[in-house]
Amino acid sequence: MPSFNLSSPINTALFIYILYSVRRILLPSHSFPTSPSRIPSEFKHGYSWLPKSHPPTVLFTTFTPKSLAPFDGKDGGRILLAIRGLVFDVSAGKNFYGPNGMYGNFAGRDASRGMAKQSFDEDMLTPIDQPLDKLEDLTPDEIDNMKGWIDHFSNKYIICGKLVENDAV
Ligand code: HEM
Repeated sequence: MPSFNLSSPINTALFIYILYSVRRILLPSHSFPTSPSRIPSEFKHGYSWLPKSHPPTVLFTTFTPKSLAPFDGKDGGRILLAIRGLVFDVSAGKNFYGPNGMYGNFAGRDASRGMAKQSFDEDMLTPIDQPLDKLEDLTPDEIDNMKGWIDHFSNKYIICGKLVENDAV
């Protein structure tokens, strides 16, 4: 039966290497500094540091047409819009949805019908004090078109809430 003989140089080297590896696992040389001298930009250096504070979080919120309306970006703040009950934070697309944007009239509004019919006309928007647009008259093609936009928005923006009737909250 082969025995483990430390007098062999290869065994000795292996033994020292194993001891060194175990020590590195049990007692890592670096702690978790909050201010690394250099923030690593690739995995090579590991991510063994903590940021100073937690990155901003987005709270999933229930909106109504009335509570969504102020988020039209006119005050320089967040820009939200809804498509079939999903509220997207489109602030990153303020060139599109900001006050001077081509699709600015969707900001703070339920954009479902406009997205479905590929139109940014004012009459695509339901007044904010009226019940939600049921979209029942849309053709299958228009519904597909709207779903395409939901896919596009889901891949690009954060869903930050849902849209319900004014009297539902
Ligand atoms: C005059 C005709 C139109 C032109 C020239 C036009 C042009 C454009 C351009 C250049 C983009 C940017 C594409 C990109 O960078 O990914 C875009 C995006 C978009 N367009 Fe149009 N568009 C037109 C009509 C419309 C209409 C009628 C709608 C109504 C729904 C619409 C809704 C959108 C939306 C929602 C986006 C995506 C913006 C985003 O990613 O946040 N467009 N359009």
